[in-house]
Amino acid sequence: MKKEVSDLLVTGNRKLNHDNFLIELKAATQVAEMHPGQFVNVKVDNSPDTYLRRPLSIHDINESSNTFSLLVKVVGEGTKQLSLIKEGETLNVVFPLGNGFKIPAKDEKILLVGGGVGIAPMMHMARESVKNGAEVHILLGARSKIDHILLDEFKDFGYVHITTDDGTLGTKGFVVDHAVFSGKETFNRIHCCGPEPMMKAVARMAKRMNTECEVSLENMMACGFGVCLCCVTKTTEGNKCVCTEGPVFNINDLEWQI
Ligand SMILES: Cc1cc2nc3c(=O)[nH]c(=O)nc-3n(C[C@H](O)[C@H](O)[C@H](O)COP(=O)(O)OP(=O)(O)OC[C@H]3O[C@@H](n4cnc5c(N)ncnc54)[C@H](O)[C@@H]3O)c2cc1C
Ligand code: FES
Repeated sequence: MKKEVSDLLVTGNRKLNHDNFLIELKAATQVAEMHPGQFVNVKVDNSPDTYLRRPLSIHDINESSNTFSLLVKVVGEGTKQLSLIKEGETLNVVFPLGNGFKIPAKDEKILLVGGGVGIAPMMHMARESVKNGAEVHILLGARSKIDHILLDEFKDFGYVHITTDDGTLGTKGFVVDHAVFSGKETFNRIHCCGPEPMMKAVARMAKRMNTECEVSLENMMACGFGVCLCCVTKTTEGNKCVCTEGPVFNINDLEWQI
């Protein structure tokens, strides 16, 4: 799909919990062509210190209303300003950017793993995978029960498994402590997004289970289109820009010590 820079209409901004917001945008072009795992680069207005655009995953799309949503976790000034945007305002967005996840074939069984705001790209991925006839398992990890969001929405697309670091919901521990990794379940592929230590732990499990695994990297970005080189990651074929050649990579292509 051709990339575009557009002022998109904000058709909703829902507070999900203490630090997560769901922003809905009316797209100028066909949302159906946005691939799960791709991201957008958003200009943050009213924030003089936030002069660089902020990368955010395409969370979900609605083809009938031609809208798509962004899941925003407030971590600093830019995301704080984004959380304050109101319906009827506009956001200047460059989209869609990067390469997304491999979509499963009919009857394949996949595991989506999201840690923290790494759950963001998984709704779109789950929707498209189910549409293709795949069996989808979704493992969501967070620190505590109050950090878990959108569980009912994820349940529409498959089997939802939950972990919390403090044991207040689901299995106590990290995502890799969940029974889906016990070896009794097998998957055609694992797709993961979250903090790097978590993705490396999932990658280790995938190797042990001899299962193909893709991870979506969240390296710091500046330009978002392959010019500044600030987002590079080491791969088996040398340094690659996460913004243009990722953010999704097969773990076998990354120079990760796992
Ligand atoms: C491809 C991609 C997809 C992303 N998708 C989402 C998403 O769907 N939802 C979401 O909420 N966030 C997502 N992020 C992370 C998001 O871009 C950052 O949280 C955001 O840019 C922070 O901006 P800020 O001005 O609020 O924070 P800043 O004031 O710039 O920084 C605040 C703190 O956050 C840290 N930080 C900033 N950027 C990142 C980053 N990329 N990774 C880790 N830590 C960071 C800083 O080191 C600092 O400690 C994504 C990042 C990438 C690269
Ligand atoms: S963010 Fe500039 S090259 Fe990737």
